[in-house]
Amino acid sequence: MRKILLPLILFYLFGSVSVLAQKVYKFGVVGTNKATFIKSLIKRMTLEEKVGQLNLVLSGGDPATTAQKEAAVIRASKGGAIFNVAGADLARKYQRIAVEETRLGIPLLFGFDCIHGMRTTFPIPLAESSSWDLKTIEQSTRVAAREASAFGVNWVYSPMIDICRDARWGRIAEGAGEDPYLGSMIAAARVKGFQGTDLSANNTVATCIKHYVAYGAAEAGRDYNTTDMSERTLREVYLPPFKAAVKAGALSVMSSFNSFNGVPSAANPFLLRQILKKELGMKGFVVSDYDAVRELISHGVAKDSIEAARIAIEGGLDMDMISNIYRDKLVGLVKQKKVSEKLIDEAVERILLVKYDLGLFHNPYLYCNANREKNDVMTSENLQAALEAARKSIVLLKNDDHILPLTKSGKVIAVIGEMANSKSDMNGCWATYSRSDDPTTILDGIRAAAPDCKVFYAKGCKVDAKEPEDYSEAMELASRSDVVIMTMGEYGWMSGEGMSRANLDIVGNQLDLFKHLQTLGKPIVVLLTNGRPLVIPYLAEHATAILETWFLGTKAGNAIADVLFGDYNPSGKLTVSFPYCVGQLPLYYSQLPTGRPHDEDPKDPYRSLYRDVTNDALYPFGYGLSYTSFEYSNFRVLNPVMTADKGIDVCVDLKNTGSREGEEVAQLYIRDLYASVSQPMKLLKRFSKVSLNPSETKTITFHLNRDDVKFYKEKVGWIAEPGKFNIFVGGNSRDLLKASFELR
Ligand code: BGC
Repeated sequence: MRKILLPLILFYLFGSVSVLAQKVYKFGVVGTNKATFIKSLIKRMTLEEKVGQLNLVLSGGDPATTAQKEAAVIRASKGGAIFNVAGADLARKYQRIAVEETRLGIPLLFGFDCIHGMRTTFPIPLAESSSWDLKTIEQSTRVAAREASAFGVNWVYSPMIDICRDARWGRIAEGAGEDPYLGSMIAAARVKGFQGTDLSANNTVATCIKHYVAYGAAEAGRDYNTTDMSERTLREVYLPPFKAAVKAGALSVMSSFNSFNGVPSAANPFLLRQILKKELGMKGFVVSDYDAVRELISHGVAKDSIEAARIAIEGGLDMDMISNIYRDKLVGLVKQKKVSEKLIDEAVERILLVKYDLGLFHNPYLYCNANREKNDVMTSENLQAALEAARKSIVLLKNDDHILPLTKSGKVIAVIGEMANSKSDMNGCWATYSRSDDPTTILDGIRAAAPDCKVFYAKGCKVDAKEPEDYSEAMELASRSDVVIMTMGEYGWMSGEGMSRANLDIVGNQLDLFKHLQTLGKPIVVLLTNGRPLVIPYLAEHATAILETWFLGTKAGNAIADVLFGDYNPSGKLTVSFPYCVGQLPLYYSQLPTGRPHDEDPKDPYRSLYRDVTNDALYPFGYGLSYTSFEYSNFRVLNPVMTADKGIDVCVDLKNTGSREGEEVAQLYIRDLYASVSQPMKLLKRFSKVSLNPSETKTITFHLNRDDVKFYKEKVGWIAEPGKFNIFVGGNSRDLLKASFELR
């Protein structure tokens, strides 16, 4: 009894929750029963206080000086969360207002975009997905969570888990590529990394999976554009990563900007209420994307902000990101009985639940520890994790005459290209809290890795020049070198939000300079720097070697040098198809068959093909080379009949036939040959990343069961139909061994 009485007495004496933050709140004891605690809190809240919780405020800096307006909003209990506060002391100032200067003292959520690291920057997510290494990916978000929470952040707008099959969309850089199976595994790994096993620990953060849903299918790859698709495509392709992330415990969801079959996601009851909350059982809350409640007016589904507030809350949107429309309109709507207070209660409950799970009612200042900011950020451990992730993200696309790896001794190397000497671009898009001078440049990485080589550098040309440039220095240095390493591609900012492009050619004079360098007859190693697949058939034909290096973050230059000189044997595989030309988009490996398959009679023009380009990808999904070689053999289905209660086991022998140790991502695909709904010609079902010494063989076994062969049929649901299946295994989605099995 004394245990409870003493803090209560203290509380009434001092009126401050901070004294008692561990156990007692202004309205009572934070006990073990979360549901009761939250329900009783909601009962004590006025309508205005409840609506306040649904408002996400944009930070304007220090609440004592530049952000007095924001401070006033929070003091008036009109904000439940704040966005873009990074800094433990700053977070403490805001939290103190919420906790000590409001009637109920409900703590704030601190939201921040933490897409690929906080200060220690990891490869852009598309790059990191090329590692096919779930442990590495989980580890990178673990580090990001540690650093974000050290800066006072407890809620990250991450991971971005949109499937995308159209490289015109700049945001393809933020996701895990084109495949729902791999995308789902990665989504779950990222949620686990951020949220850890104990969300109430001071170094784990709540995730906000985004952008729900089908944002990556924006028509013509134009950002924010309409999405229109069958329910089958939604459920088979775009929804699975969200399902996996919710299952992994994701505690909040951000609705997407686009309209889905005519209804914007921010006010779409089918997507938010029916699928997300009811079917997937999402316990946490849904926040809109930036100002998206207001955008309901531009979408043409709300005539004014009052209407926008009503359809959004009815649609299932719990929190309004920065438009202030919920804050200003919902109270009136409830008072006029145009919106039921029950909807408000439901939304508040979801938000309070996340606050509870984060441990904020036990200690609102859990994430406001300035020492952690000093001790837990950019540690050698974090930097090592960033280096490992960066090495694993690199994809070797071409390596004629085994030009790579380069030897470290006695060579003269010409490094050419603007990106070779850029630090900030290595951070890529959405590096909101990264420092522009943290990354190691490619040039510095090369120099540090090969001190015995003579390394020249010339910019050669800008990435995006509009006028002719003088190549003489680059040509002169290249002519005195044994090998040319040329960076080519995009600036770091050229992918990400709002960065759609209708042309995906190499921009500026870069290709022209490459052609000039070719006249010297030297081997040219191309380092692609890009946040999306680019159109590179000329390079694919003429470069001696190509490394896809994306934007690899703080340790970019070191990771690239490690691969160039063979300290790390590349093992990345593309998670998105590279087209021959933009006209092929959207392009993905898991195409449905047509009535006129193009490969049955390539001379017949009345087939599903282009007259001017192949249907195939230049580099297919799953593709990536190594400095060693692998051979798949003896592919067998041990028990080729699958039934409702008996799965199948398939085995393949994988041999390292080269002379170096290496890692290979063995991929397993299936095709359902006949079904009541046409099925993809290949569909990834399993993969395994295996490390092999030279001449070593390992047998890889995969197990599949009936759930793995189900498909979605409209008005029926997920079903598996008996019949024959092909099953394939190999090192990419194109070059595969084939076997078969039957489902009875
Ligand atoms: C983006 C989101 C992001 C939000 C807050 C929006 O423009 O679409 O991905 O989380 O801004 O920065």
